[in-house]
Amino acid sequence: RKRITLTKLHEMRALGEPIVMITAYDHPSALVVEEAGVDVVLVGDSAANNVLGYPDTVPVTVEELLMLTRAVRRGLKTPLLVGDLPFGSYEASDAQAIETAHRFVKEAGCDAVKLEGGGAMAERARAIVRAGVPVMGHVGLTPQTATMLGGYRAQGRTAARARAVLEDALALQEAGAFSIVFEAIPADVTDAIMPYMEIPIIGIGAGASTDGQVLVLHDLLTIHDDFQPKFAKRFAAVKDEMRRGVDAYADEVRSRTFPAPEHTYNIAPEELERFRA
Ligand code: KIV
Ligand code: NA
Repeated sequence: RKRITLTKLHEMRALGEPIVMITAYDHPSALVVEEAGVDVVLVGDSAANNVLGYPDTVPVTVEELLMLTRAVRRGLKTPLLVGDLPFGSYEASDAQAIETAHRFVKEAGCDAVKLEGGGAMAERARAIVRAGVPVMGHVGLTPQTATMLGGYRAQGRTAARARAVLEDALALQEAGAFSIVFEAIPADVTDAIMPYMEIPIIGIGAGASTDGQVLVLHDLLTIHDDFQPKFAKRFAAVKDEMRRGVDAYADEVRSRTFPAPEHTYNIAPEELERFRA
């Protein structure tokens, strides 16, 4: 397989070939998604709740995400790798946004970065693109600013709010974003916005008319069984499988059935004799 480029993603959009995007936060996951042949991998700031134990994405730092992103980079060859700019690392100024974006490229090998929001954030996107780093936008439900949105809830459910989503998407497109994530938007609103979009749109809880879909790996595999949003279809039950494995291990240690002879090293009898002597 050939390495996925921005050009390839635009071609896929033009041909109506669905784009598969997924998150990964570590090396073994990167190897799995590489083998599965996904198109785009995001080291999401959702690592905050999915692997770092934070209650939401707000506290995660650039340093924490860079470490996870480097681990994913080491496992990927073909997919486009997108780094997720965490809350507080790009909003203050164009200079801050450019500096953080450059770190994700130089220190973690990202092909692109993602940031949340339209409006002023579209200007940050423009600045980052002008500094040579491709930008993916993210509109609708933007978890970093969920408090301002009234919590984790679908966006664009009134005419005025739907218009705000359209305006954010148009601003990002105009600013030079190569792609935009639409999160938690009614499918009918997405359908109405799509004709205005000239770049690949990746949906998560935004219906079926987008150019691609993204899900969080830990959600689709059910690696944790915390609350999951409506859009997070469970494609596997990995937590149950992990639990089965750890339970079986603990049982066998307690019943002294593990380790068995095949898990045990041997010493030649004469050496043992000499050792004992
Ligand atoms: O951090 C994340 O997982 C994301 C995706 C849901 C797009 O931003
Ligand atoms: Na994110």
